[in-house]
Amino acid sequence: MKNMRTTPFTSIQELLANKIPADLIEYLPLRWEKIGDVLLIKLPSDLLRFREIISEIYTQVLHCKTVLLDKGNIMGVYREPNVEWIYGSKEIETVHVENGIRYKLDPQKIMFSSGNMDERIRMGLISNKKETIVDLFAGIGYFTLPLAVYSKPKKIYACEINKIAYDYLCQNIVLNDVTENVEPCFGDNREIAPENVADRVLLGYLRGTFEFLPTALNCLKNNIGMIHYHEVCPTKVLPDQPLQKIRDAAKEYDRTIKLLSYRPVKSYAPGITHAVLDVEIIKP
Ligand SMILES: C[S@@+](CC[C@H](N)C(=O)[O-])C[C@H]1O[C@@H](n2cnc3c(N)ncnc32)[C@H](O)[C@@H]1O
Repeated sequence: MKNMRTTPFTSIQELLANKIPADLIEYLPLRWEKIGDVLLIKLPSDLLRFREIISEIYTQVLHCKTVLLDKGNIMGVYREPNVEWIYGSKEIETVHVENGIRYKLDPQKIMFSSGNMDERIRMGLISNKKETIVDLFAGIGYFTLPLAVYSKPKKIYACEINKIAYDYLCQNIVLNDVTENVEPCFGDNREIAPENVADRVLLGYLRGTFEFLPTALNCLKNNIGMIHYHEVCPTKVLPDQPLQKIRDAAKEYDRTIKLLSYRPVKSYAPGITHAVLDVEIIKP
């Protein structure tokens, strides 16, 4: 007899076996996002009419309180999720714990990309007690919180333009007990980011990131220091294409650059990578 390992997905398949047509079982989502106790799933159109029973079984097996239908891309400047409530509690706010950090959020209003987990963990260990950091795109504290908790820098200025994300950022600073070294800053970073203070600047954003390079350079003390530059681009042009944009921006400040490392954060689409470049801005 075949030795079938029981996984959450095989349990879901078994529990749904007599509840949806047999020929649809193979279309059940094998992957999902679990943010705190909220589940995000994608359902093909044929399964939509069974959304209630499917959600009931997924919540039972995966110990969730709410199911959101994931309808596709994260949208707009504010990076809002495109999701719809389909099952369970309508109290959607939850606390997601990752790497010992508590992120409070409403997954219906705020994104949380599980694909960026390794980068959030890496950022936690990148700094030290002597540094001042500006996080230009702080969101609810994706990078700011692990940095503050594990690297304990002197100060992090965390900028966020979306009021909902900013309010969660403020709550998460308290929740993770880092009020002493994190200062949340509400507004467009191009207007509110502190200048000439930072040893390190984070640009964790994927829409025209290069347009924010002057802001990042102005944040750095004497326009010298480290930047962590995120971009989505064809894998084959990495790291040269984004690096050239940084070189051009630095030149405007009479600075040159040194690439310390670059790495893929996640695959965005076939042949397209979300990458992060760690670049030192130096005096020529
Ligand atoms: C969602 S985060 C990026 C994801 C994050 N790096 C991660 O690990 O999941 C980007 C944030 O930047 C914010 N944002 C976009 N433009 C901004 C601006 N000009 N100034 C400040 N914040 C901005 C968005 O509202 C959003 O919350």
